[in-house]
Amino acid sequence: MLQLLVQAGKRISPAHEAFVLSHYIGNPDGIRCSLAEDDDGSVLGFQSLVLARDGNRYGTPIGWGIIGTHVSPLAARRGVGRQLFEVTELAAAAAGLEKIEAFIGEKNAEGQAYYEKMGFVTYRLAEGAVCKCYEVG
Ligand SMILES: CC(C)(COP(=O)(O)OP(=O)(O)OC[C@H]1O[C@@H](n2cnc3c(N)ncnc32)[C@H](O)[C@@H]1OP(=O)(O)O)[C@@H](O)C(=O)NCCC(=O)NCCS
Repeated sequence: MLQLLVQAGKRISPAHEAFVLSHYIGNPDGIRCSLAEDDDGSVLGFQSLVLARDGNRYGTPIGWGIIGTHVSPLAARRGVGRQLFEVTELAAAAAGLEKIEAFIGEKNAEGQAYYEKMGFVTYRLAEGAVCKCYEVG
């Protein structure tokens, strides 16, 4: 699924198993990594929520959540991202987070539109990226 996103020009980070395990599933700072799958078990997408530590690579304030959303190009615009965020928001509240940051490529119009629809608001710009913040609760 991530490799399809790379082929579609929608992902620049690595898409191999070791990267997924270390960054999303087995990340020691991970709060929740939610998977969306079809009735036949095919992966439609996933969303990760990680606690921002000092020196994190996004420059996210310490103690905030960092969110990442990845939906298969074959399942886009069917509400997968929306359902994933419903679960992530609950996980953020249960973990006591007050804010979540999304770090989105400045040219990624659909990513920006998605997070805006979920209630994220732009609060800073980084090199090549727009950073949007969501207030939990
Ligand atoms: C951005 C992304 C996560 C959206 O996931 P999705 O499952 O297609 O989103 P949903 O179907 O749940 O859409 C929820 C809302 O987001 C907005 N949205 C989603 N895709 C959009 C698009 N291509 N253009 C404009 N708005 C869009 C819409 O407001 C939509 O609500 P609506 O369909 O009722 O109008 C998905 O396209 C994706 O994984 N893209 C590649 C990776 C990425 O950009 N990740 C996020 C930034 S790092």
